[in-house]
Amino acid sequence: MVEETVMDAAQVDVYVGVHKGLRHLLGRFSFEAGTTDWTDAAAVARLAAQWQVVTRLLDTHHHHEEKHIHPVLAEVSPGAHRRFEADHDAQQAVLADLAAHFDRLASGGVSAARKAQIGLEFYRGFSQFYADYLPHLHREEVEAERALHALCTAEDLGAMVGGLIASIPPDEMMLWIDCMAPAMNPRECADLLGQMKAGAPPEAFDAMADRARRAVGPSNWARLEALMAAPVV
Ligand SMILES: [Fe+2]
Repeated sequence: MVEETVMDAAQVDVYVGVHKGLRHLLGRFSFEAGTTDWTDAAAVARLAAQWQVVTRLLDTHHHHEEKHIHPVLAEVSPGAHRRFEADHDAQQAVLADLAAHFDRLASGGVSAARKAQIGLEFYRGFSQFYADYLPHLHREEVEAERALHALCTAEDLGAMVGGLIASIPPDEMMLWIDCMAPAMNPRECADLLGQMKAGAPPEAFDAMADRARRAVGPSNWARLEALMAAPVV
């Protein structure tokens, strides 16, 4: 469990950090899918690896929200979580459709022209998913976040977020760092790293910090180190 230092419930932002990471992840993948030559097996293999990360993080993100956030949301705003869970179910179904479509690229006996068609339709399908997903993120950040802040204390929210972070296995945490660290502003990122440092053994935090350093680049990392060394109180 992460030791919470946040004293004001308004300072515990439940959604925005991870959602910034997801917007970054989806936007980057959209660009990569749009620029992939579907007849180039190596390029498709690189995109397939990125697609695995996208589907893994979306799946686990939905699970995290449903396991750690929705029970609290259900207590403070009866029924509010059900719309979000219905969204998740529909999103997971579309992701499964997209994954099955993507897998057709690896089928034997598919001509280059056919691969180009399949790839373009995957890109279009993913673009529609991406467009539909953004309003969902916005509703969670506005509707669910406000409902949580209306009736939860800082301790409630800190325990909820800390429990969620503590449940993430190390290999998955590295993937979150990849997409979240470059997408957050320096203060947000330094706060997140501070939470990780407080809740992880030193060697585990060193690995996470090294991953964040590579994700944001040397100059941004220097800024983050300075912020972590002199946190705003
Ligand atoms: Fe969600």
